[in-house]
Amino acid sequence: MKDFKQARWNEPVIFELGRQGRRGFIVPKVEGLIKECVGDIGTLLPEKMVRKSSPELPELSEVEVVRHFTRLSQMNYCVDLGLYPLGSCTMKYNPKIDDLLAHQPSLTQLHPYQDEKTIQGILEILYVLGKWLAEITGTFEVSLQPAAGAHGELLGALIMRAFHKLNGGLSERTQLIVPDSAHGTNPASATMAGFDVVIVPSDKNGCININALREVVSGKTAGLMLTNPNTLGIFEENIEEIAEVIHEAGGLLYYDGANLNAILGKARPGDMGFDIVHINIHKTFGTPHGGGGPGAGPVGVSQQLESFLPIPRVVFDGIDYHLDYDKPHTIGKVKSFYGNIGVLLRAYAYILSLGSEGLKTAAEISVLNANYLLKKIAEIGAYDLPYDTERVRKHECVFSVKGLKQETGVTALNVSKRLLDYGIHAPTAYFPLIVEEALMIEPTESFKKEELDRFVEAMRRVAEEAKATPETVLKAPMNTAVTRLDEVKASHPKTMILSWKMHQKRKKASR
Ligand SMILES: Cc1ncc(COP(=O)(O)O)c(C=O)c1O
Repeated sequence: MKDFKQARWNEPVIFELGRQGRRGFIVPKVEGLIKECVGDIGTLLPEKMVRKSSPELPELSEVEVVRHFTRLSQMNYCVDLGLYPLGSCTMKYNPKIDDLLAHQPSLTQLHPYQDEKTIQGILEILYVLGKWLAEITGTFEVSLQPAAGAHGELLGALIMRAFHKLNGGLSERTQLIVPDSAHGTNPASATMAGFDVVIVPSDKNGCININALREVVSGKTAGLMLTNPNTLGIFEENIEEIAEVIHEAGGLLYYDGANLNAILGKARPGDMGFDIVHINIHKTFGTPHGGGGPGAGPVGVSQQLESFLPIPRVVFDGIDYHLDYDKPHTIGKVKSFYGNIGVLLRAYAYILSLGSEGLKTAAEISVLNANYLLKKIAEIGAYDLPYDTERVRKHECVFSVKGLKQETGVTALNVSKRLLDYGIHAPTAYFPLIVEEALMIEPTESFKKEELDRFVEAMRRVAEEAKATPETVLKAPMNTAVTRLDEVKASHPKTMILSWKMHQKRKKASR
């Protein structure tokens, strides 16, 4: 094991640093050609928008800014430092070449209101990326507009509504079926789109209970939302039968492809019978998404649903790329313009640099890594493997800390916190909800065997500590910049201070 101690700087917020008059960047004067083109900027702004007082920004030199953020970064953990095995989150290494492309000034300086003749390059990239994602998912056409997985789910559910409405069945088709292993966003998106959610249980193998499914399917069924491989990392072997049950009842099949890593180039949701698919670009295709963003959740659909996709759509006439708004059945827009361009550019670079064989290899290694960890962690004997213990998992595996908790009082949360002391990010804890004291582990393809072994060794040590000196695990973490937080205070709106303005307001109020 490596010796790990995170830096602990007593770093003030940036507003408390610096002195009046210090500068890191001087905004260039508006002069020369720019002045000729735009005139005096001050006089262009409507009077009521001109700021009367100073914006009260911190005043610092460049080196102060660099040191401040470097110190903060040393108190953090990221995928560039080591293993980040958050299950369902696919925290893979994001190659730097993707960032390089996304930061090209020829792309970042574009404006969506430019004449389409002057943005042919980016339109081509978006068009081609849409085609690649359609090929990867086995769908007919893809919209790049949604900004996240949940946003893609909402779009998918709205497309279901539009489809049933056009076919005259919306008033009866009020129910969307979701398995109990689903990500929480599935029932939330279905509800937001106006459907009633019907939950179906999993069977003893961790797959959807097909008999229970048959019982709830009826003329009220608008569709089914399914994650495959599911959140236990298990591939739904009866997927063709499931698709048949739903389609025979007149419903549509929605694929939650948040985590596509296991099946890249191996299997396609469209071929499994799914009508609508969303993908989390910010997991599988090269965008770092720790800390909540940024993201993109493109949605692909079968040919019969193509006309419902959002506008505008990028089309190609053989010579030029155009924006097509003329789609009478479109559900409209779910985001301004064409989507989260920076994230989509990274996906374009990622797919281009790996190629179809590289994508397949990524899938193979991610599955191999997950199953290697599964075997090695099971051998420790302290963590239980729920559901089918023999079955090969896909990109992730889920263990339960229930047994260890009964024996020692140490919970999944405590194990997660203690792993931080060994310099390893914790797995996802307490999800999926159907596993008590769950630890959901997804290594991805970007970690070599030595790092996986280090993780197994840390898991072994934590289990040994839980049995010998449980108080060590219960108090963890101790080697991190911030030790054990009060879980409630740390996420309660009354105690969270998210901006300098909020901080000042609270300070004033407490005086
Ligand atoms: C299985 C699954 N579905 C949907 C989502 C939602 O994606 P997002 O967080 O981008 O909204 C996630 C995110 O973790 C997920 O793991």
